Amino acid sequence: MKMRVIKEDIHWVGVVDWDRRLFDSLIPLPDGTSYNAYLIKGSEKTVLLDTVDPSMSSILMSQLEGIGSIDYVVSHHAEQDHSGTIPCVLEKYKGAKVITTPKGKGMLMDLLCIPERKFITVDDGETLSLGNKTLQFLYAPWVHWPETMVTYLREDNILFSCDLFGSHLATTDLYVTDEARVYESAKRYYAEIMMPFRMAIRKNMEKIMKKKIDLIAPSHGPIYSNPAFIVDAYRDWISDYSRNVVVLPYISMHQSTKKMVEYLLSALTEKGITVYQFDLTVTDIGKLAISLVDAATMVIATPTVHVGPHPKVFCAAYLANILRPKLKFASIIASYGWGSRAIEQTLALISNLKVEVFEPVLSRGLPKEAEFKALDDLATTIWEKHKEHTFIQ
Ligand code: FEO
Repeated sequence: MKMRVIKEDIHWVGVVDWDRRLFDSLIPLPDGTSYNAYLIKGSEKTVLLDTVDPSMSSILMSQLEGIGSIDYVVSHHAEQDHSGTIPCVLEKYKGAKVITTPKGKGMLMDLLCIPERKFITVDDGETLSLGNKTLQFLYAPWVHWPETMVTYLREDNILFSCDLFGSHLATTDLYVTDEARVYESAKRYYAEIMMPFRMAIRKNMEKIMKKKIDLIAPSHGPIYSNPAFIVDAYRDWISDYSRNVVVLPYISMHQSTKKMVEYLLSALTEKGITVYQFDLTVTDIGKLAISLVDAATMVIATPTVHVGPHPKVFCAAYLANILRPKLKFASIIASYGWGSRAIEQTLALISNLKVEVFEPVLSRGLPKEAEFKALDDLATTIWEKHKEHTFIQ
């Protein structure tokens, strides 16, 4: 795709990665993604904001073919999907300097072996004149890494937000046209990349949102010409409010766990609680992560495999633990044949979560009257706790 005009002298350059199916070699990307860079030609200086994933360097370099000079490359974030083509840009534009935070400089020197003499570091709030346009750099630590910053283009009220507000969506639309579709892609993005840093986002948004913003141009997915759409979505996701939802990831080997899952799902549904059930042998774990963004409760269900939880349950519990969703409650359901420590071991995997743990349910073989009664009790406890926390209207 060729360079595209956002406004006079402000261009999108970048790559739509239609075929990428995993991010961080972990989260499925059913709709691909993009790596957005932006070129701003001021009356005196020209700047490139970020680059693209190194696997697609040639596309960015071909978009820049007609550009005679670049004075600065702003690196908002050292992660390689944005910084990986900086060495190619510096090779072509010998006089270009890399503008970044002091932490970003150290990381780019380590990750990409960019020589120290190529850098200019900026302070939080510092400005750079391009002649008729002024960039202001705003530190935004932990969205996504500790070195991250964003850029505000004063004359045009554009926020270049890098990972913040991004979406994993390959599209030819320069701007958001289908908000429902982008909402899902942006929530997937938030769940995987941003959710562990919810409190940092809150603090950074307080600072950044004081600016008058007409456009938000992120580094993944389309540009927001209606910034309130994504800002309001983020305000909801980063709030302390959880929904009347139970997330129920499970594995079953010989039907015992599955029977308990189905029974609990039915009991919860009868009480008006929304349940998202995920069979971990087939589920898209991105969907699981999305469901954790605003659920109040997670109940993990596992058979026992060599005393502990099933390995796929182990992975899902570990993922939930590192993504640190704002869950309030959790419990475990497990089954076994002759001996089990699956409950203790699964609980140990979610120690990061600040949750109240409800009485787990353990069944030897198929569930019987006592286990069904325990599942009824668990459903009642969840319902009462959700009511107490006003998740139920
Ligand atoms: Fe899109 Fe943290 O990189």
